[in-house]
Amino acid sequence: MTFYESLKQALPTDPKTWLVTGVAGFIGSNLLETLLKLDQNVVGLDNFATGHQRNLDEVQGLVSDAQWSRFRFINGDIRKLEDCQSACVGVDYVLHQAALGSVPRSLNDPIATNSTNVDGFLNMLVAARDAQVKSFTYAASSSTYGDHPALPKVEGVIGNPLSPYAVTKYVNELYADVFARSYGFKTIGLRYFNVFGKRQDPEGAYAAVIPKWTSAMIKGDDVFINGDGKTSRDFCFIENTVQMNLLAATAVEESALNQVYNVAVSGRTDLNQLFDALKNSLAMQGVIYSKEPVYRDFRAGDVRHSQADISKAKTMLGYAPEFDIHAGVDKAMPWYLSFMS
Ligand SMILES: NC(=O)c1ccc[n+]([C@@H]2O[C@H](COP(=O)([O-])OP(=O)(O)OC[C@H]3O[C@@H](n4cnc5c(N)ncnc54)[C@H](O)[C@@H]3O)[C@@H](O)[C@H]2O)c1
Repeated sequence: MTFYESLKQALPTDPKTWLVTGVAGFIGSNLLETLLKLDQNVVGLDNFATGHQRNLDEVQGLVSDAQWSRFRFINGDIRKLEDCQSACVGVDYVLHQAALGSVPRSLNDPIATNSTNVDGFLNMLVAARDAQVKSFTYAASSSTYGDHPALPKVEGVIGNPLSPYAVTKYVNELYADVFARSYGFKTIGLRYFNVFGKRQDPEGAYAAVIPKWTSAMIKGDDVFINGDGKTSRDFCFIENTVQMNLLAATAVEESALNQVYNVAVSGRTDLNQLFDALKNSLAMQGVIYSKEPVYRDFRAGDVRHSQADISKAKTMLGYAPEFDIHAGVDKAMPWYLSFMS
């Protein structure tokens, strides 16, 4: 069964209308592509703070004209309640992805991060509640585990946040829970663990590690490792993340709703291993990177180790991630090579 055939089974038989906020970003544009390929109707909201028109253009080129005609884009800002309200009209399912990501960005400018990630989130909750959508699925974050040392991370056991970004993502969970209890609203939070894949931005000061290193390797630039290279992450390929969003949004079992779920593969890859994995995957594509990594100081606000327990998502939602880090990196690499050429 193909990726799309298996996802189709998760959806209601008649097409629904989905609101994807942050639709011009990495995860949002991948959700858009999948939903359109599944012949769904999609409303997209984005203000291009970190997203790009090129991501929307790329999706347009990957779907049929008929599928593209089912997409309505709103150039708007979640910090404005009226933009959230117009985006929610006629919507069945909300997949709320819009936020300012990045721990370092939040340390440099906590007010900007708070304003989008907390005020904007609350606007979206209010607008979606008033529009009586069927469910509200939102991007939470593994950063909520903060300084808790236990591995693997289990949803119910969290520590203290280590950055303003982590605070905002935890506040999202608190608000979603209160809306569920107070208004009978259906929310599901997805604690993403280092998602990667095509259209993840390799540019800018706040780029994530996989696109940043991949683009440096393709250009022959130095690759910098913050710390000793033993910092580890549970890298999750985008197609696993897309699957989880669709399963969460359409979940109907009461016990599965108003919960948060880890979204990862339960793998653990340290930065030294990641360096080798990217180098080897590029070599398979004929690009040889021969430099050694350059080690520098640890980065403030970073969690040391991260690995998810994904049994809750498997049991409650039927999540079945198909891609480990190596399969995901190999699938993403041709996109990076074409993007950088
Ligand atoms: N990528 C990851 O590894 C990861 C990990 C944990 C959580 N998340 C969360 O997943 C979500 C999507 O992340 P991403 O990696 O796709 O990032 P991204 O930066 O590529 O996408 C975010 C999108 O939100 C838009 N946006 C930002 N502020 C906005 C505003 N005020 N109004 C409307 N749109 C706005 C941006 O323009 C961008 O298109 C975010 O909520 C992020 O915090 C991502």
